Amino acid sequence: MASLTVRQLDEKLKKRLRLRAAKNGRSVEDEVRTILRSAAGDEAAFAEVSAAPKPGRKPADAPHILLIIGGGIAAYKSLDLIRRLRERGIAVRVVMTAAAQKFITPLSVGALAGEHPYLDLFDAHSEFDVGHIRLAREPALIVVAPATADLMAKMAHGLADDLASAVLLATDKTILLAPAMNPLMWNNGATRRNIALLKAEDVELVGPNRGEMSESGEAGVGRMAEPLEIVAAAQRLLAPDSGVLAGVRMLVTSGPTHEPIDPVRYIANRSSGKQGHAIAEAAARAGADVTLVSGPVNVPDPRGVNVVKVESAREMLAAVEAALPADVAVFAAAVADWRTAANSREKIKKTGKQSPELALVENPDILSTIAHRKAGRPKLVIGFAAETQHVVEHAKQKLIRKACDWILANDVSPETGIMGGDSNTIHLVTAKSVEDWPPQSKTEVAAALVARIAAALSERT
Ligand code: C5P
Repeated sequence: MASLTVRQLDEKLKKRLRLRAAKNGRSVEDEVRTILRSAAGDEAAFAEVSAAPKPGRKPADAPHILLIIGGGIAAYKSLDLIRRLRERGIAVRVVMTAAAQKFITPLSVGALAGEHPYLDLFDAHSEFDVGHIRLAREPALIVVAPATADLMAKMAHGLADDLASAVLLATDKTILLAPAMNPLMWNNGATRRNIALLKAEDVELVGPNRGEMSESGEAGVGRMAEPLEIVAAAQRLLAPDSGVLAGVRMLVTSGPTHEPIDPVRYIANRSSGKQGHAIAEAAARAGADVTLVSGPVNVPDPRGVNVVKVESAREMLAAVEAALPADVAVFAAAVADWRTAANSREKIKKTGKQSPELALVENPDILSTIAHRKAGRPKLVIGFAAETQHVVEHAKQKLIRKACDWILANDVSPETGIMGGDSNTIHLVTAKSVEDWPPQSKTEVAAALVARIAAALSERT
């Protein structure tokens, strides 16, 4: 193979090379190497020529999200994610793993992001420009989408053998993961343990959702969250106090109802109000104007929320109607289905002979009443379905019967500990699909629901 040194070139050519190298922030040798590889049709070199970050392209302190694209088929959705983020005025800087570049090209990422992605830990040019430490420190938030099982395993164990994992190890910023993988990989014990480690480090997750996999015939939990869901979750993390639900009027019911039998006794249920209150608080933090109609509970009033306290189902219905109009209504209260036909004004006394008979009549169904409204129906009406068997089937029927848009169904069998407990496992039933959410705290469920509501409202507009 012929050998050639820069010194052997004529002065005019050397001068042009020096100018070109200086413009691109490279040494003359590197510039020559790049030109030769490009001329030889080496695609990586071409990508390097066109994708090498140019010094000073983005002011160092410009607020932006760092998007790390991992190597999975869902990477194609990350192109739309970049577009959606930029539509909302959020600047995006991108790091792609080597595997991500097998699914989508740096060229298309660069075109959408408005600047070339960073590709290689040992790329002298990106080191010259920002380097992995600055990539890790400058963004307002780091989003990993798709977050592959491999990338999450590296994160959980502190490996840093490529640019993406080095940035993730070197950062002190909030990290939002959008996992995407085959359901068997998601359910594998190793992945479960890694997720637990990452959660303990306060890493945030959006998804994965349940649905069809790209492998034909496979379905389960593992689909990456949709770009708008990721955007909503990112916005929530970027601006938890104002944001995705700014300007939205929201109504939430929460807690049990107490149906009086006499002045001292009542019919009730085990609802704690934790889930409904968490939803009201998360919506208020996301900027919504929230009215919470609450039955008797022992949890504190959420901050920034207008709380209306009621006792019985009929009082709850009246308070809900008074709080309308609303854009979104979430009916999380466990309303008593029946009340006593006659509410004794005096305490019922033991007679020593016969036990009193309690005749019951049905309470109004608040959710169904509001969802069936011809005028003034909120745009999005969301109910809950607490079931002890055939959870999803019953929820699907309820969705139709009560005319609501979404049902969050959960299994409240005593062994689940959900009623009154701190965690919840939700199945989100809509007219089109059923999504199984992973077990989460009630606060996480509230945040996920707020993100979904924000995504749905922005889709409609
Ligand atoms: O029929 P079921 O009680 O399972 O329905 C649960 C859903 O309906 C919840 O969203 C609950 O808040 C709502 N509901 C209501 N008024 C009732 C009964 C239930 O708003 N009387």
